[in-house]
Amino acid sequence: MALNKLQKVREGFANGRSITISDAEVLPLALDVAVDIALEAGALLRDSLAEEKEISLKRSAIDLVTQFDKAAEELIIGRLLTAFPDHTLVGEEGGTRGANSKYQWHIDPIDGTTNFAHGLPVFGVSIGLYEYAKPLVGVIYDPMRDECFCAAAGQGSFVRRDGKNRPLQVSAASSLMHSLVATGFAPNGRARDRQNLRPFGRILEQVQGIRRSGSAAIDLAYVAAGRLDGYWQYDLNSWDVAAGMLLVREAGGMVTGLAGEPAVLQPQLDLVVSNGRIHSQLLSLLTVPEHANE
Ligand code: IPD
Ligand code: CA
Ligand code: CA
Repeated sequence: MALNKLQKVREGFANGRSITISDAEVLPLALDVAVDIALEAGALLRDSLAEEKEISLKRSAIDLVTQFDKAAEELIIGRLLTAFPDHTLVGEEGGTRGANSKYQWHIDPIDGTTNFAHGLPVFGVSIGLYEYAKPLVGVIYDPMRDECFCAAAGQGSFVRRDGKNRPLQVSAASSLMHSLVATGFAPNGRARDRQNLRPFGRILEQVQGIRRSGSAAIDLAYVAAGRLDGYWQYDLNSWDVAAGMLLVREAGGMVTGLAGEPAVLQPQLDLVVSNGRIHSQLLSLLTVPEHANE
């Protein structure tokens, strides 16, 4: 049934005609549809990386957008509206579109825009589907390495590479001293970035290394894949992490707020993410009161 319907969706992509999908069909179809769309948007970005970028600023002097962010988002939105015309779409570049539905898609057409704008090939397309607060599907596609990280609720996470699916599992590192972690800095949060420098310094002294890739989606996919052991950041947006939160959890990892409470997707959020084993160590270094002796 789902295969037949997927074929119809693909025909709809080719001829622009919407199709009708019942509630029961959403879950079986959503992952394949999201993968198709992420691969298509990713190919557009891969082909555009070396092109001249028209860069505009959004909410701050370091909050960039290029014509390719907009083109990729238009492509993704158009495809999703063809497949799921009744769903709500929350995209970084276009705000909220579509109907007011219990199904919400959170879309970051290029997570890693600053990298992309500089021609640095570290970025991903991130697409996550939620039913109210419940994550259903997450897809993060890295077009430069041709790695597609996927998860569906209750079905685990996997990476599709060279035409094969490989299951993902978080790392087994049990101490910070054996861990490689990552963080990020929000383009609109200079004050909170300054606030991040103290925990950054504390954590730096306790781990094998800290990375800052410039793409929260790739960082989360790498925690799910066991390539990173942990990650934290302040002031993320729903579209940065909607897919990655599900990927990490389905790969056996932990995703919380700064107080250690299970993270729930919101328009803006602070996250601490790990393989679970180093989580409390990471949390304790992040939450030392600022007046404490260091
Ligand atoms: C940014 C990246 C970055 C993170 C920022 C995000 P964008 O997204 O995910 O790693 O540190 O907070 O805003 O702007 O490249 O889509
Ligand atoms: Ca982003
Ligand atoms: Ca973006």
